[in-house]
Amino acid sequence: MTRHPWLPALALGVAAVAGTAQAADGAKIFQLQCKTCHGAKSSPMAPSLAGVAGRKIASLADFAYSTGLKGKDGTWTDANLDAYLASPSKFAPGTRMTAGVVSAPDRTAVIGYLKTLK
Ligand code: HEC
Repeated sequence: MTRHPWLPALALGVAAVAGTAQAADGAKIFQLQCKTCHGAKSSPMAPSLAGVAGRKIASLADFAYSTGLKGKDGTWTDANLDAYLASPSKFAPGTRMTAGVVSAPDRTAVIGYLKTLK
């Protein structure tokens, strides 16, 4: 994965959000913590998350998944999404996605947002 010069600015944005006492905003979390890699279409950097809720794990034909994620059975249920985001490498050892979402309310919010991506 390549580093981008604007990542520090992004990290500052995340810190600012974490510092507020507002209800977790899934769209904002996605904007700040996921969109760097996950675009509307799959790219070499990450698979598209459009329609990911309920989809079979690691099932897009246009993305070369790690064997770690490919080896997982099942679909992206709320529980699987929550477990993957809580600790990607614990859910799927060898996965190429390393960053998760530490806060449980933030995970719930961003999973809710994923369901709106068609
Ligand atoms: C640094 C880049 C990066 C960031 C940031 C990132 N991801 Fe990922 N994500 C990936 C990669 C790469 C994969 C594929 C992993 C593999 O093949 O093991 C992936 C896979 C996924 C999958 C499984 C998709 C599928 O088709 O099975 C989900 C769900 C997901 N990411 C959600 C998220 C969410 C939600 C966020 C933000 C909280 C996020 N990701 C942030 C790189 C990233």
